[in-house]
Amino acid sequence: MTEATTAILEPTESNMRHAAELLRSGALVSFPTETVYGLGADATNDAAVTGIYEAKGRPSFNPLIAHVASVEMAQRYVVWDERAQHLADAFWPGPLTMVLPVLPDSGISRIVTAGLNSLAVRMPAHPLAQALLSECDRPIAAPSANPSGKISPTTAAHVFAGLNGRIAAILDGGSCGVGLESTIIGLGKTVQLLRPGSITQDQIKQTLHCDVSSFKEGEGISAPGQLLSHYAPTAQVRLNAEFFESDELRLGFGAVECDLNLSETGDMYEAAANLFAMLHDLDSRGSQKIAVSPIPLIGIGVAINDRLTRAAAPR
Ligand code: TXA
Ligand code: MG
Repeated sequence: MTEATTAILEPTESNMRHAAELLRSGALVSFPTETVYGLGADATNDAAVTGIYEAKGRPSFNPLIAHVASVEMAQRYVVWDERAQHLADAFWPGPLTMVLPVLPDSGISRIVTAGLNSLAVRMPAHPLAQALLSECDRPIAAPSANPSGKISPTTAAHVFAGLNGRIAAILDGGSCGVGLESTIIGLGKTVQLLRPGSITQDQIKQTLHCDVSSFKEGEGISAPGQLLSHYAPTAQVRLNAEFFESDELRLGFGAVECDLNLSETGDMYEAAANLFAMLHDLDSRGSQKIAVSPIPLIGIGVAINDRLTRAAAPR
């Protein structure tokens, strides 16, 4: 589906209503969340959800997250339990997605769940996302608003560069604060970390007082989006670079000489917020090679290294 030039909407009251109206009518609208920009469609509308897969070039086996305005709204679509309630009390609204059994008569399009019996639900914290969800008054399916396999967008300009002409509008909310996609937790018989994010495995353990297993490729329920090559710039990416070659663009961390620095002071949250924007920037400079300083594998550093490993994976 090719549309006219995608509109970039300033976040005014009337634009919010317009964006909600577009979503209700089945159109695709990108909106900011605290993690990355989402590409939204009415999760109860098969045709609208199909449009997401077409616009992104996303494989149809990769299910989507349903975004909700409240816990009550989530409870209409999934089998809620005590663990979900504890996690929601601790982390919602916020960058946590929970995968739970989908209710039989949920009304959620089967295309959202890619035919699975589970549904991923998330209540975002970004005020514009919340306002839009409340105004729509229905669940919004939203993957990250990038062409499939490419770097996730943290500004409206990134979304425009990747999807212009393929979606109706982008609600411009400036830069995303967290900068990495939500932590995904599978709440099946056991509790599984399906995708690391800014909310860490330890925080989940401490909240639920139970074991949280790490996701391993090919085991248990999977997050099909956890394909090894993902978030990939055009350039080749080299990780844990202690030194830089002369033909490499240098993405530094801490007190190093480089082209762009994720955080000069070694602040991991700052590094997470800068990661995708800096990869976008370096990739647009046309070099064939990007080298990245080591990032410690602790706290949010686990999620940063997860995204970097995927950006560096052979394709
Ligand atoms: O921060 C985020 O989560 C962003 C913003 C827009 O909310 N969204 C996002 O969506 O990252 P996406 O589609 O790029 O990643 C969703 C991930 C995929 O890896 C998908 O496989 C997984 O969630 N997923 C969705 N439904 C699932 C299910 N029922 N079971 C297991 N994994 C699921
Ligand atoms: Mg994505």
